[in-house]
Amino acid sequence: VINIDKFNIPIYNVVKKYIDTNPTAFHMPGHKLGRGIPAEILKNLAAFDVTEIPGTDNLHYPEEAIKEAQDLAAKAFGAKETFFLVNGSTCGIHAAIMTMCKKGDKLIVPRDCHKSVISGMMLAGAEPVYIRPEYMDSFGIPGTVTAESIERALEEHRDAVGVFLTRPNYYGICSDIEKIVSLVHSYGKIVAVDEAHGAHLSFCEKLPVSAMKAGADICIQSAHKTLPAFTQGAYLHVGSDKINIDRLKFFLGMLQTSSPSYIIMMLLDIARAVMEEQGSCLLERLLHNIDLFEEKVRRCAGVRLLKDEILKEGRHDATRLVINFHNAGITGFEADKILRERFNIQVEMADMKNIVCICTVADSSDDFERLYEGIKTIAPLKQSFNKPQDFKNDIIVPKRAVNLGEVLSSDTELVSLKDAAGKASWEMITPYPPGIPLVSPGEVITEEIIKIIFNIINNGGKINGIYDNMKVKIIRK
Ligand SMILES: Cc1ncc(COP(=O)(O)O)c(C=O)c1O
Repeated sequence: VINIDKFNIPIYNVVKKYIDTNPTAFHMPGHKLGRGIPAEILKNLAAFDVTEIPGTDNLHYPEEAIKEAQDLAAKAFGAKETFFLVNGSTCGIHAAIMTMCKKGDKLIVPRDCHKSVISGMMLAGAEPVYIRPEYMDSFGIPGTVTAESIERALEEHRDAVGVFLTRPNYYGICSDIEKIVSLVHSYGKIVAVDEAHGAHLSFCEKLPVSAMKAGADICIQSAHKTLPAFTQGAYLHVGSDKINIDRLKFFLGMLQTSSPSYIIMMLLDIARAVMEEQGSCLLERLLHNIDLFEEKVRRCAGVRLLKDEILKEGRHDATRLVINFHNAGITGFEADKILRERFNIQVEMADMKNIVCICTVADSSDDFERLYEGIKTIAPLKQSFNKPQDFKNDIIVPKRAVNLGEVLSSDTELVSLKDAAGKASWEMITPYPPGIPLVSPGEVITEEIIKIIFNIINNGGKINGIYDNMKVKIIRK
């Protein structure tokens, strides 16, 4: 018997400390600290961590159980073919882009795409054509990507291979996929969808339509974000013959580990079964709990909810709660802190104006009750709210100095941010949240961007791509 009491095991210690407080978890993974996983499965879970032995099949050459599980998933999600991913949507997005694009090919992407879309284009040597999502000033977040903006890009870049849409975005905003699919297909191009936040959409008629149902050619979903699946578990669905399956298999084989976790794969299969058998009923119950919660929150002065009505186009996924405290005179960061420290509630993310909660079939009515108790207390508090000076709310796309495909073979240098104007960035510089890059690899850092970065940091925001003592990595000439 191993006695762990005297071990120095920091990761175990921090996670144990967190879960021992029995928190209310409005963050991923979607199983919510195991609560959404059938108890039978959790018993003796470690013993299921096996490998490729006779009878357990092989993710890279599936013929038996893994093939059957992937076929069942394809049927449940309405795909032609489904692939299980054990390295999150990230590796599926990389493989999808490398399948679609050869060196120098253009890909139309929204500026607020996840960093894995950028790194996928770097790996493929593809060149981005950025489109701006609508910016929602009152929430300070990116909104829908309109069909009109995509059409403009398609007209200007007739040689693009297709569009890589992010839908839903982090805030649950779902662009009008049906309109976009029919538009992009009318140009004979591919529609790929980063549906990392939308694995649950297939299972309830009341939610926005899923990418597969809307006719997308390929989509990637992080099962671990919104379904009762384990972290890193994701699906890649192929919806049409426009995707070269042999090329896709080659890249998945290259990008995924040769020792895939059977626990992750098994949970992908179980999450599919749970949703297929009971998803509609469980999601209806979740939507009912959210309705009751929102009805009460609407009575809290100064608190706003993100709903369909304020979108220019498309719909909002009602399971993604975006609660805005701006008019209550409090930042999302402050609301997040109060919920954690006073109510033992951990949300998914906070920004200047909002908190974001990921709600899944594993949440109970009590969870929403506790969240309401917290919100009700926060609303009248009015904290030390400093409205950020000149907070940049427009989406900018700086000039490009080095092609994305060439960035990987460039040398880098760490320089002070204040001396970086005019230099090409080696990395993405992204305020997180909301995750819209201010600068992407190969683009030129400007004085204006430097001012925005200092402003965000001085106002308590966080920025990825900034190193100690306000340094940035640039491309050395
Ligand atoms: C929009 C979007 N796409 C892709 C990803 C990557 O997903 P994963 O963490 O499963 O690799 C994320 C992760 O946060 C995301 O928000």
